[in-house]
Formats: sequence, structure tokens, C-alpha cells
Amino acid sequence: MRSKIVAIIFILSLNILSGQEVYKDKKAPIENRIKDLVKRMTIDEKILQLNQLTFGTNNNPNNIGKEVSGLPSGIGSVIYFTGDPVLRNKLQKKAVEESRLGIPILFGFDIIHGFRTVYPISLAQACSWNPELVKLNCEAAAKESVMSGIDWTFSPMVDVARDPRWGRVAEGYGEDPYVNAVFGAASIEGYQGKNLSDPFSIAACLKHYVGYGMSEGGRDYTYTNISKQSLWETYMPPYEAGVKAGAATLMTGFNDISGIPATANHYTLTEILKKRWGHDGFVVSDWNAIEQLIYQGVAKDKKEAGLKAFNAGVEMDMKDGIYLEYFKELLNEKKITIAKIDDAVSRILRIKFRLGLFDEPYTKIVDEKERYLNDESKVLAQRLAEESMVLLKNEKAVLPLSSSVKKIALIGPIAKDTENIMGAWSFNGKATDVESIFEGFRSEFGSKIQINYAKGSGFEGTDESNFLEAVTAANNSDVVVVCLGELKTWSGENASRSSIALPSIQEKLVVELKKTGKPIILILSSGRPLELVRLEPLADAIIEIWQPGIAGGTPLAGIVSGRINPSGKLAITFPLTTGQIPTYYNMRHSARPFDKQGYYQDIPTEPLYWFGHGLSYTNYEYSPIVLSKDKIKKGEKLKVEVVVTNSGKISGKETVLWYISDPAASISRPIKELKYFEKKEIEAGEKCLFTFEIDPMRDLSFPDENGNRILESGDFYIQVNNQKIKFELL
Ligand code: NOJ
Repeated sequence: MRSKIVAIIFILSLNILSGQEVYKDKKAPIENRIKDLVKRMTIDEKILQLNQLTFGTNNNPNNIGKEVSGLPSGIGSVIYFTGDPVLRNKLQKKAVEESRLGIPILFGFDIIHGFRTVYPISLAQACSWNPELVKLNCEAAAKESVMSGIDWTFSPMVDVARDPRWGRVAEGYGEDPYVNAVFGAASIEGYQGKNLSDPFSIAACLKHYVGYGMSEGGRDYTYTNISKQSLWETYMPPYEAGVKAGAATLMTGFNDISGIPATANHYTLTEILKKRWGHDGFVVSDWNAIEQLIYQGVAKDKKEAGLKAFNAGVEMDMKDGIYLEYFKELLNEKKITIAKIDDAVSRILRIKFRLGLFDEPYTKIVDEKERYLNDESKVLAQRLAEESMVLLKNEKAVLPLSSSVKKIALIGPIAKDTENIMGAWSFNGKATDVESIFEGFRSEFGSKIQINYAKGSGFEGTDESNFLEAVTAANNSDVVVVCLGELKTWSGENASRSSIALPSIQEKLVVELKKTGKPIILILSSGRPLELVRLEPLADAIIEIWQPGIAGGTPLAGIVSGRINPSGKLAITFPLTTGQIPTYYNMRHSARPFDKQGYYQDIPTEPLYWFGHGLSYTNYEYSPIVLSKDKIKKGEKLKVEVVVTNSGKISGKETVLWYISDPAASISRPIKELKYFEKKEIEAGEKCLFTFEIDPMRDLSFPDENGNRILESGDFYIQVNNQKIKFELL
């Protein structure tokens, strides 16, 4: 090791003496290349690296920026709206050949659930309980992105979200910290591959660090009142896991964390992220989040906003141009130091070097047909859609359809939709690529079953003029499949809703259809859990398909026909009514948990569907849980096992969810917490062993308000399905 270091120092000094540009030397260690380059940079060149501007036609209604002409060739990064690799190469050529040091630009964009091949929204992905599949779809999305000139995605979002009024619940992995941690890590592994320099890897960006999901009342951009305890218990774990998984970058949140906005929060950005977790990549602000420090009331003007963000630990200014405008002044006033600028520049360069941008700055141009929608990606999109759909209700086994069904009435605003089922943040998706539910049914049932389509109603409004046609179609059919849901603009950024019920026109349509007496199968496509208190009693079966992307039609039709056995389970609770929000499974105990005291007196206590709910066409029987011991010491592990038997007639995929509860601790603990899950295929009549090894420090401890883990002796419970068994930690 010592001789290696001596050799490196020797080569470095030789290079310096000979005037060789080490940063251009592919073989030199990255840290040496960074040092060499930073030494050569002027202050203006350094400041340019800390900025991200926009480039191309911006079709995001919430983030419209001025079209930048005459982009400085030494700019650090651009948000690349265009997705045109040829144009990228032109821009990159300017940076590489015309800027003094030839530093390549980092091209970023929001690849949230696919680029051109649009996959199910992230919330749906979590309902698949299949992180391996999610990893594969991110890998495929990275490939399409690279071929479109993108090096960096602003994904995954791992903001734990428990208020479905918040439009951004669609973008994350639901209400549970552990689920967000697992899926966030899987998607990072998919995007970044084994090595950032692999030809089809892109850099990931964990967002929105941190606590954004706690937005007050589900309203976007609002204050978030987060105690240190809940910061560490609920909001930090997915970020810690994402950093461990190697996330190259993070984006700050718009939210004000109990008085200190996320974009000016030294504690989260520097003390924790950089010092405690040792993150050596960089942090980008969210769109306009630096300037917004003024509106949040912690900066008097742009200059102070820039100062606060930078000194807190935000290395790159997304779009505001504040760093560009004020940093020289701030340096002269000695409010920021050159050492800190150097550190920030080094972090950004580090990611560029790791991506291999200095050595391969250009995108290889391949024919558009080869770039997008290859068969493999389409199959992945279909598999993910299939596994993420959740059978919520199936009374009298109305599904799968019996062989006596010869005519299906396919009704509703979602039935032929090819735009909204792509979901929010699908800017490169094309409606013409999307398979509608109608098309899926056509290819599934062919000439065997007649499909009687009627639109029935729009998404909203009061127009009932299409009801009659829908009722006639229902009367002429054996079963009614009514496809309701949300517009894609009702999810995502700046898309909060005061009620999570569907507009009354859609509910009224079902009331009319119910009068026909035909079995009603309700299909829901939404970016959030919905209030189904009026709809649920009218439906014999309900399937939540979320916003499945380009390939939802066939998987849904397969579930309806029985070709596919549904295996999705909810990663977020469906409250009974909007007034029940927040309702999430890992809440803390009430002081009077008995006799329903303290709950709303006008509605039932329970939500409609809990986290983890999801039906199948087969039956799974769980054996009693077996513990390897019932007492363990702190340094020991405890093995828990359960055998699941598929006692039905068809094979299926079952996810076993392992929860821990700690009934008496020095601070109160949630009613139960998910610690592990596993999904396995079980053939009809077969058994399968599921095992979970409890590591006390990882699974039985809890954080204090500084994030230190506390492990206390005492009784714990392990819970699986409907069983709960006690064990003791000595
Ligand atoms: C604002 C959004 O909050 C963020 O998630 C997104 O990545 C940026 N805009 C860039 O589009």
C-alpha cells in the first residue's frame, strides 16, 4: 500500500514538473485528476461549475424557465429538456473544445418512471414488492436516457408520504420508511449499474432531502413540522439507505423543516450527509429553491439566499443563477471561502469523472428505432404493471371472469385513455406508444368475448349525456367493467387535492350502472389512494391499476381473465374518507386504544384498505411462526421462519411482510414496523419457506433525536400475517 502511494506521488510530481495535464490522463486516479484540474481553474470557471441552467423546450408547467441562449461553455450542468443526442453533442463540443479547460457539461433530466418506455409510477412499483424488477426497469430507463444524451436523472424520490392529498405521493414508494429505503436503493442500483462509468449508467439523485413528504395538509411547497425524533425515525432512513447504495447526488426539498428550510439546512446537508454519512458526491437545490428561501422568510434577498444555501451544503444551484451572480462578491466580502468553493467544485467534478465524461464526453448516436421501446423494456413494463396492480376486493369470486361471460361492457373515462395512464412526469412518453385498457381487453379476449365499449362520463364536470349509452351497454352485457380514475395532472408537483374522492360525475356513473343489476368490476387508475366510501359498496370487485405506463392494458385484461394471478399489495393505506387522513399502519398507539375511543365518532375507525392489503386468486396458508430461540442476547441473531402453503388451484406470488413491535420502551414506538419482506412464487399445492433473520441492532433498536441507535432489552413481538409471537432481548 505504502509503495503504491509513493508511486502515485512520484508520477504526480513528474506530471507537474513536466507540465502534463493530469486531469486529462485517463489512467490517473480520479482524486488526482480532480486536484490537478481544480488547481488550474480560475474563480470564474469554478463558479460556473456550481450552476445548472436549462436547455431546450420546457414542457413542465410548474418549472418553466427562460430559454437560455448563449449557454456559457463552462457551465456545470444543464437540465436537458430536449432529449436529442445530436444537439447534446453540439453543446458538449462547445464545452469540451471551446472552454479553456474543456470541462464537459453534465446533462440532467427527470427520468422518474422511464424515459420513452414509460413504466408504472413509483407508488405502483412499490406495490409490486419486487425490488429486483424495479432495478431492471431503472436499468432499462438509464439505457434509453443515455442514448438521448442524459447523464443524470433526478430520481428516485424517497419521501415517505402519508397524506394522499399531496400530489407527489405518486412519485415515491408509499408510507413506510423501509419500503422507500429498499426501492430507493434498488432504483439507484438500476440507474447507476455496477459502475457509473459503464456505458449505460446514469447518475441518480435522491430527492427531496428531507421531509418534503410531511407537507402540511398535503399542500405542496408548505412548511413541514418535523420533530428531530420523526426526522430520524421516518424521513432519514430512506436517504441513509440511498447514500449507502451509492447515490451520486441528492436534491434538496422545497420544504421548511421546522423553521430551517431543507435548502439552507446545515444540519441535514453538512453535519449528517457529508460528515456523518461521508457522502462525497454533490447536492443540487430544487428548482428555484434557493430564491424561495426569501419567501420562506430566512433570507432578505437573493444574495443572502445563495450564501445560506451554499454554506449549508448545497453545491449546485438549479436554475436560479444566484451562485453565478453573487459568488464573486461573497468571496470578496469573505462570506464564503475559496476552500469551500474548491470542495464544492471537486464534488461536482468527481461525479463527472466517475461518469467517464472527461474521457467519453459525447453520446453515441444510434438510430431512433434502436434507442427506444425495445422488446425487453416493453416486457419489463408489462411485468411491472402486472405485479403492481392490486386486487382490492373480490366478492363472491366474481374475478376471474367465469367462462359463462360472453359480453363485457367496458365503460368509463379511463377505458380508452392513453394519456393519463402514463402518469405525471412522463414528458417523453407518447400516447401512441400506450396500450389502452380497451386494446388490452381486445387482445386478451379476441373474438371469444364481445366488448361493448361506452365512455360513460368524463373525468370531471357535470355532463351526464353519455350515461344512457353506458347503461345500454351494461344491459347488453354479462358483466360491467367500469374504468374510473384521475387525470395525470392531478398527481405530481403542485397537484394537491383537498379531497381524494373521484369527482362526483364518475361516482354517479357507477350508481347508474349498478341499477342494471349486472356485476360491477371497478378499475381504478390513480396516482394516490382514493376515497371509495361511496363506490366500494357498489362494486363486486375492485382493481387498483395505478398509472401503469405504456403497458397496462394486457396485464389488467390478464388479471380479469384469470391468465394472471394478481400479486400486488398496497404500499400505502386507503383511508375510508379524506377526513381520516393521516392514517398509516405504523402510527403510534392511542392512550385509549380500546373500544374505539378517541376516533372519529361519525365514521368507522378503520381505513378501507390497510398498507399490505392485496388479494389473490389462490389461498395462502401460513404455518405457525417458528423462532430459533425465544430469548436472545444483543450480539446474537434470531431466525424466524414461516411456511406458506398455496392451498388453491393456481400458482401465485406471495409477499411475506415481517413486522416488529416493541410494546414498552423508553420512548413510545409505532404500533408495528415493517422490517423485511420477501416475494416468492409458489406453485399450487406447494409449500415455501420464508425466513427472516433478526439482527437486534438493525431491527430492534430505534434512533434517538440525534440519530444514534438505542437498543433496549425487553419484550418484542414479531408479526407476520395474522400471527404475533413474543420474544425477549436480554
Ligand atoms: C422541481 C421538482 O420538485 C423536482 O422533483 C424536479 O426534479 C425539478 N423540478 C426539476 O425538474
